[in-house]
This record gives sequence, C-alpha cells and structure tokens, in this order.
Amino acid sequence: MEAAREQNIFIKSGLHEAGTFIQDNFRDHTKIILTDTNVREHCLPFLLSEISSLGESGIISVEPGEENKTIDSLEIILSFLARKHAGRDSLLINLGGGMIGDLGGFAASVYKRGIPFINIPTTLLAMADASTGGKNGINLDGVKNIAGTFTLPSAVFICPVFLRTLPQREIFSGFAEVIKHALLSGGDAWNEMRSLDKLPVPDDWSRWISHSVSFKHGITQKDFHEEGIRAILNFGHTIGHSIESASLKFDRDPLTHGESIALGMIAETFLSRRLCGLPEGIASEIAGFLRHHFRHINTSVHPENIISYVRNDKKNKKGKIIFSLLKDIGNPTGPVGASEEEIVASLNYCLEDLSKITG
Ligand SMILES: NC(=O)c1ccc[n+]([C@@H]2O[C@H](COP(=O)([O-])OP(=O)(O)OC[C@H]3O[C@@H](n4cnc5c(N)ncnc54)[C@H](O)[C@@H]3O)[C@@H](O)[C@H]2O)c1
Ligand SMILES: [Zn+2]
Repeated sequence: MEAAREQNIFIKSGLHEAGTFIQDNFRDHTKIILTDTNVREHCLPFLLSEISSLGESGIISVEPGEENKTIDSLEIILSFLARKHAGRDSLLINLGGGMIGDLGGFAASVYKRGIPFINIPTTLLAMADASTGGKNGINLDGVKNIAGTFTLPSAVFICPVFLRTLPQREIFSGFAEVIKHALLSGGDAWNEMRSLDKLPVPDDWSRWISHSVSFKHGITQKDFHEEGIRAILNFGHTIGHSIESASLKFDRDPLTHGESIALGMIAETFLSRRLCGLPEGIASEIAGFLRHHFRHINTSVHPENIISYVRNDKKNKKGKIIFSLLKDIGNPTGPVGASEEEIVASLNYCLEDLSKITG
C-alpha cells in the first residue's frame, strides 16, 4: 500500500494562511479560481477581500449542483484553461463544495497531465470530507464518480466562516459524513455526538471538522489508493451512492449526497447486524440517531430503482457486491460480500423507516 505524501491542511477562521501559502509557493503562478454561481455570490467576495493578491485571478463559474458534475462542465474548465494558456505555472483554486472540489481536482489532475491546485471548501461536507484525501471525479450516465483520479491538492484551507451562508439542508448533508467518521472512530467522538441534541452554529463546527479531517487523514495516509484500509471510509456509500443516483434520476428535488449517505448508513447498519455481528442494541441506536437527525428526508425512490446502481458499484468484484461495514462502533470491517436478497431487505428497512419518518 502506498502512503500519501503529507497534505497541508489548515483549519482557521480566516484565510490569512492561505494568502501566505500562495505567496510563498505560487507567487509567480497565474491564478485561476473555479467556483459555482452560488459560491461566486456568497463566498468569492470574502475570499478576494481576505487575499488581495488574488484580485487579478481568472474566474470560471459553472452551474451548481450534482447534476453538473459532468463531462460537459469538465470540458468548460479545460477549454477555459487552454484559452488562458494555463500551464504548470498556473494554480487552480477550487472554491466551493464537494462538487467543485471533485470537478476541479479532476480538471487540474488531467489538464496538461497535471497542474497544481488548492481546495478552499465552502460546505460542511467538503470541509469534513471531500476536500481532503485526494479523490476527485465526475459522474457519467447517472453513475457517480465513474471517472476520476487520486491526486492530492497542494493545500486545503478550511474556514468555517463560509458556513454562515450555507443553507441548513446542506449543513445536515455534511453532518452525515461527520457522523460517519464518529461511527468509524468510536470512543469519545461517538459518545459526544450521540448526546448532541442540536447542531452547532456555523462558527462552532471546527471541533467536528478537525475530528473528521484528522481521522480521515490517518486512514488515507496509510492507504492512499484504497487498496485496503481506506475502504472503511465507504461505510454507507455502496448503498448511499446508489440511492443518490436513483434520486437524481427519479426525484424532482433530489436528495443531497449526505442525505443519501444517511439512508445508506441506515441500510448498511442493517447489513452490519445481519452479516458482521453488530449488536442489536447498537444497531438500533445508530439507526435511531440517523432517523432523528434526517427526519426531513423525502424521496420517491424504491428498492427496484436503486438495485441496478448497486450492481454497477466500482467496488464490486467478480459479481459480488462488496461492503465496508461495522462490527461495532469504532470497529469497522470489510470487505464483506452481500447477496442481492440481503441488499433488498436492507433497502426495505431503510426506506420503511423513512415512511415512518415522513409519516
Ligand atoms: N472526493 C471525496 O473524497 C468526496 C467525499 C465526499 C463527497 N464527495 C462529493 O462531494 C459532492 C457533494 O459536495 P457538497 O455537499 O459540498 O455539494 P455541492 O458542492 O453541490 O454544494 C451544495 C450546494 O451549496 C452551495 N454552496 C456551497 N457553498 C456555499 C456557501 N458557503 N453558501 C451558500 N451556498 C453554498 C452550492 O452552490 C450547492 O448548491 C458530491 O459530488 C460527492 O460525491 C467527494
Ligand atoms: Zn460521502
């Protein structure tokens, strides 16, 4: 297993370090900022006011949302870079949520076989998860992340101030990944989390973001290319990604990534109880906690809509559908193969729960 090189990750309430880092490492590089139209309105002015040296940057903005994490958006970015004669002496700055980080990271890693990039995440999900670890990618024909690379950004600057303008539904979306990291790490993090009765205000997320980032970093350092232990981070995602793809296709107001992962974690908790001996009491505590915090979820997708996407999952080996599950809180396990019958049962369980939630 190949270890990742060290990542520079800064978690601060301002962007002073980002300015210094860019001056120290990329002073003469042409800067190009990639963003989406929402982030351009809500976050770009703060970035430019904090880092005056970015005033001359080129700016590309793409349409927001998962449905735009596509090859068409990738082409827009690559063409923009080519028109600006960007090269290895250019720096791409991905300012936005996980969608921008995934798209921009992919563009930077393939444009002229790789130019440097940094991530400045603006959603809780991107701060706690997507902006670190070096995975990027785009969706194709409705299948999530089917093309992408493993390429680390030169640095990641996490500034929770950006969360002040993030809609509450997107805060919950990021919370799902924070919960995932607490379940995988166990110990104090889960004990503290399960006693949370309401979510922190935007400026108080740093403690949870730090926990997520350092837990994920500890894992990705050991196994950058996901040949072993990194797969534990996929807990909730085999089913969650399939629910997300189905929802993008069938729902008028599709589920967010985190909402899909919350449902995926309920289903995979069910599988963990069936297949890995996760104690019944713990399984209902996890499912109950997720159900409580994600009681706003609403989707029309059915197990039949989801199962075809599960079959297409990148992690499947020789026709077996592979999962990363939990033996206990803080004790992940895998790879575990599950039959289609078991998967359908887990989907019925999580979607039945949902009809109880939405009543
Ligand atoms: N690469 C990884 O390791 C990894 C890990 C987890 C998730 N992901 C990917 O991340 C993506 C989801 O990321 P996301 O949840 O950040 O979604 P997103 O980037 O689509 O952002 C969600 C919405 O919030 C808006 N927004 C962003 N920041 C804002 C701000 N500060 N104020 C107001 N509005 C703001 C965006 O315009 C968008 O409409 C998915 O594509 C998922 O596959 C990648
Ligand atoms: Zn995720």
